[in-house]
Amino acid sequence: MRFHILTLFPEAFKGPLEHSMLERARQHDLLSFQLTDIRDYAHDVHGTADDYQFGGGAGMVMKPEPVFEAVEAALAGYSPQERAAIPIVLTSPQGKLLDQQTAQALARCPALVLICGHYAGVDERVRQHLATHEISIGDYVLTGGELPAMVIMDTVARFVPGVVGSAENVLEDSITSGLLQHPLYTRPAQFRDLAVPDILLSGNHARIARWRREESLRRTLSQRPDLLAKAALPEEDLVYLNSLGQESPSAPLSQRGVGGISAPRLSRTDFRFHTQVRVRWNECDPQGIAFNGAFMNYLEVAHAEYFRNLGFSIYALARSGHFESAMVKVDLEFKAPARLDDLLELYLRVARVGRSSFTLELAIYGPPLGQSGDRLLAAGRAVYAGFDPASATARPVPDGIRELAEHFEATGEALPLARFPRLAEAAL
Ligand SMILES: C[S@@+](CC[C@H](N)C(=O)[O-])C[C@H]1O[C@@H](n2cnc3c(N)ncnc32)[C@H](O)[C@@H]1O
Repeated sequence: MRFHILTLFPEAFKGPLEHSMLERARQHDLLSFQLTDIRDYAHDVHGTADDYQFGGGAGMVMKPEPVFEAVEAALAGYSPQERAAIPIVLTSPQGKLLDQQTAQALARCPALVLICGHYAGVDERVRQHLATHEISIGDYVLTGGELPAMVIMDTVARFVPGVVGSAENVLEDSITSGLLQHPLYTRPAQFRDLAVPDILLSGNHARIARWRREESLRRTLSQRPDLLAKAALPEEDLVYLNSLGQESPSAPLSQRGVGGISAPRLSRTDFRFHTQVRVRWNECDPQGIAFNGAFMNYLEVAHAEYFRNLGFSIYALARSGHFESAMVKVDLEFKAPARLDDLLELYLRVARVGRSSFTLELAIYGPPLGQSGDRLLAAGRAVYAGFDPASATARPVPDGIRELAEHFEATGEALPLARFPRLAEAAL
């Protein structure tokens, strides 16, 4: 690929073009560069390439004739068909923002012309009648187009086959893959008191791949949630993201739980629904303390009773074939023990309904001890995914369930079940 760079300051390119990956690629004939000093096409002996603005205004404007003629000279050696395939890029803060897709598309062209503006900018006729593309490298204004031209060349060059060692590297890069890249580690495995995550040393490639994927999703959710909205993600990723759903994207990492999950800090007033359950003998150890596993049962009770409160039985719904879900992730934080015969208060809310999964949040309170009136025993979050038991594949959450839950969470009112005939089949 050949880059034709048109600039008033050709020396500015010396360092970047003579070093780095671009120079290596040039030595291997993968890239070539032609620098043109726009002043060489000035029409006077002084090499004047800029002039005052018509209509008045601060700053000089780059004249059209030298720019047009410099571009025409650069393209003179190409056939008309070749010329038609060569983008003429005007660097400008008013242009389309440079992104990986644009760079990838430009890399497929045989050559690229880059016009570096300066001063107050370039005569509008260059923009309208010469440039085929106007590209900005970001929402800020630089003094000239030289740095933008270097940025464009560098990012385009990465997509030219052979320039970067392995094509896989480029595809795994942040943004190119649609997500931010997972964390990278190299030797030593232990640096000061900072160790590389064990999983990366495990040799279990499938688990490493999943860990990387989840780190990548978590990082993207935290730093660039806008990218997630555009990414076409498989179900497994959506379920994982759903499990992170309530994590504030802006919270510092140190405030988050391990693996991005932290139990929600909720109080009773955050919930519109609660029910009760008494701790039974078969749920306790010999000291009369409820096993941790019993809390999974309390979660299930709260889950079933929540929807019963909305008018239907989740078990009858599964039997009817309309919708069945399975718990795919749970995160419970245990704060204090529950004891035999305690009357527990189970607070539950639907925190999020995704396409094929939903997230429940739970807080379990025990009876007051002494002066304490508010004894939180456990709090956490669980993700349930809709699935089809026959094919064991994911299944969307019915719109009726979404509507009922969202309306209840917003208003505290249960919508009439008659509006949802398939749910009404599982009415109580
Ligand atoms: C000071 S700027 C001119 C800005 C111009 N007055 C405007 O408001 O659009 C001079 C030159 O720097 C380059 N430039 C500045 N910021 C840029 C950016 N964010 N992306 C690409 N080129 C930029 C362009 O070539 C531009 O012609």
